[in-house]
Amino acid sequence: MKLIIAYIKPFKMDDVKIALQDIGVKGMSVTEIKGFGRQKGHTELYRGSEYHTDFIPKVKIETVVPDDLYTKVIELISETAKTGKMGDGKIFVLPVENAIRIRTDETGDEAL
Ligand SMILES: Nc1ncnc2c1ncn2[C@@H]1O[C@H](COP(=O)(O)OP(=O)(O)O)[C@@H](O)[C@H]1O
Ligand SMILES: [Mg+2]
Repeated sequence: MKLIIAYIKPFKMDDVKIALQDIGVKGMSVTEIKGFGRQKGHTELYRGSEYHTDFIPKVKIETVVPDDLYTKVIELISETAKTGKMGDGKIFVLPVENAIRIRTDETGDEAL
């Protein structure tokens, strides 16, 4: 299993959610966050105006997916969240040791 963490533009969240559900992603967690990348936020547009702070609103998506799905998940997030402008975001991939569904004690892929 892999943990995919994606930081994307907030207005792309719904499209990304739908795209991921369509390919069989079973669960995800979403947090409204603020962050910055290489440009330190300054040169990024948000809701039509230039942002004069280091931190720009983003959405953080966390989803744990089976090994046979994660390359597809990355491709899809990248395609769907891309505008080609600064601040489109980043995707990080981390290995996951195990997953446990508390209600049933299922583990691994079955717990996702
Ligand atoms: N190295 C990093 N570690 C953690 N989060 C990051 C990192 N780089 C970018 N982010 C997150 O991704 C968001 C979008 O980054 P982005 O501006 O697209 O990156 P860059 O300017 O480096 O191309 C940032 O606001 C931040 O929340
Ligand atoms: Mg940037």
